[in-house]
Amino acid sequence: MKKVFFVLFLCLPLCKGCTDNGGKAIEAKVSETVSQMTLDEKIGVVHAQSKFSSRGVPRLGVPELWCDDGPHGVRPETLWDSWAAAGWTNDSCTAYPSLTCLAASWDRDLALLYGRSVGEEARYRKKNVLLGPGVNICRTPLCGRNFEYMGEDPYLAGEMAVPYVKGVQSNNVATCVKHFALNNQEFMRSSINVNISDRALYEIYLPAFKAAVMDGGAWSVMSSYNKYQNEWVSHQPRLLKDILKGEWGFDGAVISDWGAVHSTEGAAWGGLDLEFGTHTNGVDINTANAYDAYYLADAYKQKILAGELPESELDDKVSRALRLNFRTLQGDNCGSMCSPGHFADCRKIGSEGIVLLKNSGVLPMKTEVGKVVVLGENAIRPMVVGGSSSSLKAQHEISPLQGLREAFPEAEVVYERAYVGEPKLTGNYNYGLYDLSDPRPADVILADALAAVQDADYVVFVGGLNKNKEQDCEGKDRLAYELPYGQNEVIEAIAAARPDMIYVNISGSPVAMPFVDKVGAIVQAWYLGSEAGRAIADVLTGAVNPSGKLPFTFPVALSDGPVKTERQYPGIQDEEGNWQVYYDEDIWVGYRWYDHVAVEPLFPFGYGLSYTSFEYSDLRVPGTFSDGMKVRVRVRNTGDVAGAEVVQLYVTDEEASVDRPVKELKGFGKVYLEPGESREVEFRLNRSALSYFDESAHEWVAEPGAFKVLVGSSSRDIRAEAGFRLVR
Ligand code: GLC
Repeated sequence: MKKVFFVLFLCLPLCKGCTDNGGKAIEAKVSETVSQMTLDEKIGVVHAQSKFSSRGVPRLGVPELWCDDGPHGVRPETLWDSWAAAGWTNDSCTAYPSLTCLAASWDRDLALLYGRSVGEEARYRKKNVLLGPGVNICRTPLCGRNFEYMGEDPYLAGEMAVPYVKGVQSNNVATCVKHFALNNQEFMRSSINVNISDRALYEIYLPAFKAAVMDGGAWSVMSSYNKYQNEWVSHQPRLLKDILKGEWGFDGAVISDWGAVHSTEGAAWGGLDLEFGTHTNGVDINTANAYDAYYLADAYKQKILAGELPESELDDKVSRALRLNFRTLQGDNCGSMCSPGHFADCRKIGSEGIVLLKNSGVLPMKTEVGKVVVLGENAIRPMVVGGSSSSLKAQHEISPLQGLREAFPEAEVVYERAYVGEPKLTGNYNYGLYDLSDPRPADVILADALAAVQDADYVVFVGGLNKNKEQDCEGKDRLAYELPYGQNEVIEAIAAARPDMIYVNISGSPVAMPFVDKVGAIVQAWYLGSEAGRAIADVLTGAVNPSGKLPFTFPVALSDGPVKTERQYPGIQDEEGNWQVYYDEDIWVGYRWYDHVAVEPLFPFGYGLSYTSFEYSDLRVPGTFSDGMKVRVRVRNTGDVAGAEVVQLYVTDEEASVDRPVKELKGFGKVYLEPGESREVEFRLNRSALSYFDESAHEWVAEPGAFKVLVGSSSRDIRAEAGFRLVR
């Protein structure tokens, strides 16, 4: 019987970036180049020269450094000096699924494929740095950028970020892990100060970045807009020097978020290496030709010449900027763009990340039927143009309606709007204004939908959010947990006529679903990119057996969650008028909270159904812990169709001297099984899996005593458990 190994790594003592191939040659070239550079040349490479590039050193043959967003595809060219699209006709891209979808796949191999694929497109577009992945933890469902990140659990986010980083960088394109750190809301993002305990910082908000740097070997990190300990993060030595470059040994470059730098001294001393986007808000405000006025430009040069700031600090920045540049000059690979393979990758990632939340038997849909009615604005709405900096100019974007029409070639596939959200839609770029306006009054739109569904074999309603402002978009948080545009009422009206209706929710955040008991099926379909409609149709028809698992909890109501007071979110102003947000919930984030307070969520972390079923047996856990301890469990496909199961491993510390979560995710593995097939899944637990962060000792501590391993199909569907002891 084939064994499957899932090994959990301890963070290695040395960040992988230092050991990448060509390391010694690059280090020699960096040292030699720095020694030959003039002060002006050094100043030139540590700040932007255009919206997305910084200078090279023409005299010494060092090319410019070009960045681009990320993380779901390569952003179209902007004008040299502005956010406006350059209007090129050869920069359309493959739009990949959002990172919440990738996280929902719980498939490390898929994350590697994703990184390789999107990295090929960045290489083809001659970008040195792809600005992603985003790994900020989902602290509140209202955060506008949850869709760009990888959920509520630091272990899952880290495990999925590492292969993405390796995949992108296998193309000799740098990743830029963002937004380091504590950028967990958009409200007042450019100035709000985060108040947080060290334990929550180290246990919840840093691990994904640490994994991306130390295990993934990320070549750059993006410093975030907000403040921490009342200092802008781009000037924050505790985060950038003590932790990132000190404790983690990061040898890459820290690139500021666009407009996140606010002083020369701060940027010089705080650990920043490359200043981008100054005098902008990172979304739409712009100051043309401001580059000499950057904080690390003329002002910095003058302070060095006056002896107020040491040139040695500049030399370290220059070395890191050159190391980043030279690492991306390796190899003769040219990448590729919009290839059939990339679209196939996109479709695979999308269908693997879709989560089946409810199925009363209506799914999978049979394709030999007469009439399918597709409802909802999100069945026709382009999504990749929204979201702000991660928005894209896709070479194509198959809508859910198009995907379903392709999947039911013999059927009559009827479309009805059912509701109108945002009729106008312009992307970040001038290339398209989608007019989705509908002259009919809302009641007529609904009446027409109700008339259409009467004799349908299937009714598929595609709703959710849409990456417009306040609907899963950078720069603004959501204003409500509920679905917008009166969708709940429309869904309930349709469900009254067709209780077997299939609800497809498109969103990058949890949403309220008061209709959960009134519909036949619910499918969580993320922002799926170019092949969205085909991925959705693959799952609805059973061409792909859904295997996604939620990367964050769907609470019944926002008030069930840990973030309850104004000071927790969106924050309050202090007596000087500065915005302060307090992470009073501390480590109790996501399922850690709902377990702690024993509140039943609508759908729990790690939850997702399949068209088949799985049985767990033979859990084997040694009685006493040893480093690398092997945990084994057998999983069998007890249904009649092939499918994949994400086996989740949680750990409980039963005798902790401090408050610890009921359980914490410390392992997972995805196994694909034919009907009747069984396989043993093996995990290895290291001491880090048992530890909590002792902030007084400033170290990770695993306390001797009784522990438990719990394995299951979700955080609330534990199939087997066994105790063991940590002796010392
Ligand atoms: C934006 C975003 C960041 C993006 C950068 C460049 O403000 O915060 O994620 O990479 O600016 O567009």
